[in-house]
Amino acid sequence: MKALVLSGGKGTRLRPITHTNAKQLVPIANKPILFYAIESIKEAGIKDIGVVVGDTKEEIKTALGDGSKWGVKITYIEQEAPLGLAHAVKISRDFIGDDDFVMFLGDNLIKDGIVSLVDRFRESHSASQILLARVAHPEQFGVAELKEGKVLKLVEKPENPQSDLALVGVYMFDKSIFEAVKNIKPSRRGELEITDAIQYLIDHKFTVHPHIIDGWWKDTGKLEDILEANRIILDTLSKKIEGKIDKNSKIYGKVVIEQGAEIIDSVIRGPVIIGENSKIVRSYVGPFSSVYYDVTIENSEVEHSIILQKSKIKDIKRIEDSLIGQNVEILKSKTKPIAYRIMVGDGSRVEVI
Ligand code: TTP
Repeated sequence: MKALVLSGGKGTRLRPITHTNAKQLVPIANKPILFYAIESIKEAGIKDIGVVVGDTKEEIKTALGDGSKWGVKITYIEQEAPLGLAHAVKISRDFIGDDDFVMFLGDNLIKDGIVSLVDRFRESHSASQILLARVAHPEQFGVAELKEGKVLKLVEKPENPQSDLALVGVYMFDKSIFEAVKNIKPSRRGELEITDAIQYLIDHKFTVHPHIIDGWWKDTGKLEDILEANRIILDTLSKKIEGKIDKNSKIYGKVVIEQGAEIIDSVIRGPVIIGENSKIVRSYVGPFSSVYYDVTIENSEVEHSIILQKSKIKDIKRIEDSLIGQNVEILKSKTKPIAYRIMVGDGSRVEVI
C-alpha cells in the first residue's frame, strides 16, 4: 500500500500567510501540520509516500527531504496548477501503479491516526473507503448522503446539505479510482473534484465503504480551524522545561519551554509552547498559545494565538485569537504623531482598539 499526501493547492482562505508560505507548514504546537500526516501514515505501516506539490514545492521539499527523518521514502509529484483533488490523483498514476493507497490532505489532522482505518480497508476489499464526520456547517464541506449504511450521493459544498456528514480529508482507494478520474469533467469552479470521482465509483457499482469517525478531525484550511487544532494539540502535551526561567517568572499548567528559550519576569499559563531561542520578557503568555522559534515578546500579553518564527511583539497590551506570520514586528507607536503605522500584505486582517 502507498500514500499520497496533497500539499499543493491555492490556500486562498489563509491569505496572506499563503502568499509566501505553504499552509501545510504552519506549525500546530510548534510542529508543521504536514508532519502529523507523515507520522500517521508511517504509523499505519506505509513507507512509500508520494507528495503532490505546487507553487510552494521548494519549501515543502526542504521541510520533508527524502523522508529519511521518519524512515519513509518520499517521491515528489509536481502538479502544474491546483486543478483539484481528483487531478492530483490523476497525475499520480505512475507513482501509485496498481497499488491500493491512502490519500491524505496535507492540511488535515486526524486525532486517532489512521492505523485501524487502513486495516479495515485492507480487509474490506472495497474500491474505496471514505471517512465521514458529523459537522455543524456541512455546507462548507463535501457532504455524503447515506442510505442503509451505503453511500448514495456525494456533493461538494452543497447549498442545502441533505446530511451533516462531511468528508474527512483522508480517503482510501484501489486502482479503480484512476478509471473514475479519467472519466469525470471539471466542476463549475474548474476543478476535478474528488467527490465526483467517488460518485463515479458509486454510479458504476464499485463498492465505496463509508466509515463515520468519532474522534476529532480538523481541516486547517482557515484561521479559526488552525487555532482550534492548536488548542486541541497543546492540551495533549506534557510539561517539559528545557529553556531558562528566571526566579521572577511564574509557570502554570502544561507548559513546554524548548531549548535556548528564556522566560524573564513573565507569567506563562499553559497549555503553551515556547519555541527554541525565543525570549519572553516582562510579558504574559496565556492558554493555547504556540510561540515558534527566535520570537521575542516583550512587555506584552498574548493568548490563544500562534506566532511564527523570528517575529517580535513589543509593548502591546493584548493579542488574542491571532496568527502572526514570520519576521513580523508589532510595536507601539512612539514617535509623534501617535498613529497606526501599518504595512500588511494583501488579504490581511487587522482589528485595532
Ligand atoms: P483545499 O484546502 O481544498 O484547497 P486549497 O489548498 O486550494 O485552499 P483554498 O480552498 O483555501 O483556496 O485543499 C486540500 C489539500 O489539498 C491542501 O493540502 C492543498 C491540497 N491540494 C492540492 O495538492 N492540489 C489541488 O489541486 C488542490 C485543490 C488542493
